[in-house]
Amino acid sequence: KKVVLAYSGGLDTSIILKWLQTTYGCEVVTFTADLGQGEELEPARQKALLLGIKPENIFIEDLREEFVRDYVFPMFRANAQYEGLYLLGTSIARPLIAKKQIEIAEKVGADAVAHGATGKGNDQVRFELGYYALKPDVTVIAPWREWDLTSRTKLLEFAEQNQIPIAKDKRGEAPFSVDANLLHASSEGKVLEDPAQEVPDYVYSRTIDPEAAPDTPTYITIDFEKGDPVAIDGVKMSPATLLAKLNELGRVNGIGRLDLVENRFVGMKSRGMYETPGGTILYVAHRGIESITLDRGAAHLKDELMPKYAELVYNGFWFSPEREMLQALIDRSQELVSGQVRLKLYKGGVHLVGRDSPYSLYDQELVTFEEGAVAYDHRDAAGFIKLNALRLRTLAQRRKKLGL
Ligand code: ARG
Ligand code: SIN
Repeated sequence: KKVVLAYSGGLDTSIILKWLQTTYGCEVVTFTADLGQGEELEPARQKALLLGIKPENIFIEDLREEFVRDYVFPMFRANAQYEGLYLLGTSIARPLIAKKQIEIAEKVGADAVAHGATGKGNDQVRFELGYYALKPDVTVIAPWREWDLTSRTKLLEFAEQNQIPIAKDKRGEAPFSVDANLLHASSEGKVLEDPAQEVPDYVYSRTIDPEAAPDTPTYITIDFEKGDPVAIDGVKMSPATLLAKLNELGRVNGIGRLDLVENRFVGMKSRGMYETPGGTILYVAHRGIESITLDRGAAHLKDELMPKYAELVYNGFWFSPEREMLQALIDRSQELVSGQVRLKLYKGGVHLVGRDSPYSLYDQELVTFEEGAVAYDHRDAAGFIKLNALRLRTLAQRRKKLGL
């Protein structure tokens, strides 16, 4: 029996690795992905070797470009925000990890996969919906739901008994839980659990405090092609390089901090702190280029469907027909979403200050307060308003007749 484990190289997934070997007696295959979390991957290989994993059973992949190109950018075409605010940085990474695990399982002939998400959160759902969607007969092992290592002490004991090296700073309980990738860093739990208490400064890792940001604004331009950003200040970049650059611009200007209480799919409310510097800039920029290139009907329909799309991503239904159908609609809307926006970044704020496109629908001639435009006759407006008012007048007349 073989199992493919999503392995970070950290203490928790190392314990899972050993636990799978000892409890299930199975051959463990590790998969470690670089999603831009900002950690070296080689230590994960060394750790896996140390824990007795055969070299041919260690898979390490740099997924940064694929992550941004095929997951982050398609989602940003939708302007997706869960519950109006969350840019879904953790949610969007899970389907890609699940997909790779399944690919590796097929390659090495494994019939099981395992992950390190707890039994209380969204991530277990996202991983497992991904697994089942891509390999319906797969066996899923979720150690956090199964084992009796229910306290830090028990976990550390297990680690010691099994010769798992424990970094000095890992002996104590971590003050909060972090999930990070190129799109965001998310912190939850422990010191963050009381939503009445402000997030302590030391929790922030991706942004400087907006109050400490430069007193002079940073101006940048972003070029879009078919709804995706392709260049910053005229310099073309690959998707991951571009997002990394936006993250740097966001970091120094204190952009993209969010303290949020959200509704988890499994039913409880949870409080988290997100830092999405580049994503926050991209969101404003994308809305800016859409504002001149999208027709009103297309734009409003997109906006109506956005909460549904965001919920599907949040709940882990990336590989579902309804998400794919919405994606097709969104992508169709982006065909002429090309051009350039100009942004001012200043002390935590992202301000759209200019937009331009060869496909702009903005007609200065039509909108001007000066005399102009033959396509628009002021006199047409009178009839337009009267017909729209017809119902309202009828209602008012009835109200009057009934003395209401
Ligand atoms: N609540 C966020 C989500 O469901 C993040 C979850 C993972 N974050 C963490 N710090 N463990 O997408
Ligand atoms: C976890 O429980 O593993 C992280 C939080 C979540 O999935 O919502």
